[in-house]
Amino acid sequence: MLIHSKLIDYRVDIQTKLPDPFQRNDQGFSSQSSFFVIDQAIYDCYPELFKALSSEKVFIFDVSEESKTMQYVFKMCEKLLENRCQRRTTLVAIGGGILQDVAGFVASIYFRGIPWIFYPTTLLAQADSCIGGKTSLNFLKRKNLLGTFYPPERIVICLQFLQSLSEKEFRSGIGEVIKLHIISGEKKFDQLFEKKESLFSRDLDSWGKWIQSSLEIKKSYIETDEHDLGLRKTLNFGHTCGHAIEACTHYEIPHGQAVLMGIIIACEMSFLRGMLSESKKQRVEALCEEVVGDLIPLKGIDREQFFEIVAMDKKNEENAIVEILIDDNLLPHIVNDVSKEEIAKALTKVVSF
Ligand SMILES: NC(=O)c1ccc[n+]([C@@H]2O[C@H](COP(=O)([O-])OP(=O)(O)OC[C@H]3O[C@@H](n4cnc5c(N)ncnc54)[C@H](O)[C@@H]3O)[C@@H](O)[C@H]2O)c1
Ligand SMILES: [Zn+2]
Repeated sequence: MLIHSKLIDYRVDIQTKLPDPFQRNDQGFSSQSSFFVIDQAIYDCYPELFKALSSEKVFIFDVSEESKTMQYVFKMCEKLLENRCQRRTTLVAIGGGILQDVAGFVASIYFRGIPWIFYPTTLLAQADSCIGGKTSLNFLKRKNLLGTFYPPERIVICLQFLQSLSEKEFRSGIGEVIKLHIISGEKKFDQLFEKKESLFSRDLDSWGKWIQSSLEIKKSYIETDEHDLGLRKTLNFGHTCGHAIEACTHYEIPHGQAVLMGIIIACEMSFLRGMLSESKKQRVEALCEEVVGDLIPLKGIDREQFFEIVAMDKKNEENAIVEILIDDNLLPHIVNDVSKEEIAKALTKVVSF
């Protein structure tokens, strides 16, 4: 798959097997030398892949939401500088969405931008975040506030990485896959719904297909509106309340699962506004609930903090809360006159205060 971007066009390859072991100066990449940023979990799970690399060319990233900060960016830049990485050094990033956000940010600022290659290893990163070119850091308790648009030169998806992913993180990825298949309309959602058993398996053939189909959906959005000025905002379906749930649970609920809860809330709001029929709402809800399981009803959420975060959402305009709602064909709409009371009413589907 080729993704067109204003900066560069880049290729996404999907393969079942793991990459070949990385070599000291991997010439498969476009630069003279490479520097590796590797998720700690991947480094521990797949030592064979990295044993030929000298330690000074490797930065092991112990990922958490707390590491999406400038301090971590500076640490990585220091290591790049210590190792005399130059403008033509390729940064090879291997890990999930957090590592992608930070490594991509570093690649975009070091020498005003060095080439980078991404091997996504979580389902969320493989099926969703790897394309679109966004890099993000958290700042002053606000998620993804700082960032750049800076796509990698190439993305290599190795499905076998999914075998070692925890069930919690796997279900987080399923969340974004469901989101993408809802907002591309009823036909795509029905295809997913009819084969929903395959979502819960680790059958790599099925997953190759779901990942391909998710990326094709996302590709159509990001190529039309790369810089998030209009249409791309609808990819944020489920994220207004999802981000607030993540933050209020101190990121105990992983991103994609929080998004599914946000989708349940958005569907209820769409229904209460008469945009979505009860039967369609129930169908979407049923699938989301199957994935989040007994995580709902959520308890212990600080109501005030929840609405504070919702009020700070990036999509908001002046004093109005902006939400993505869906119609009866499951197509998304940007709605810019949402009230706090409206959200509060729908929130009871997920949260028990
Ligand atoms: N840039 C974007 O466009 C974009 C889009 C969506 C989400 N995001 C961001 O992505 C982040 C979430 O990323 P994520 O869901 O990929 O999770 P993650 O990067 O936090 O990884 C989840 C956990 O899985 C471990 N892990 C990674 N790959 C593994 C594997 N193959 N086997 C075993 N363990 C593995 C990691 O060490 C980590 O503990 C959020 O911060 C979110 O804001 C970015
Ligand atoms: Zn998301």
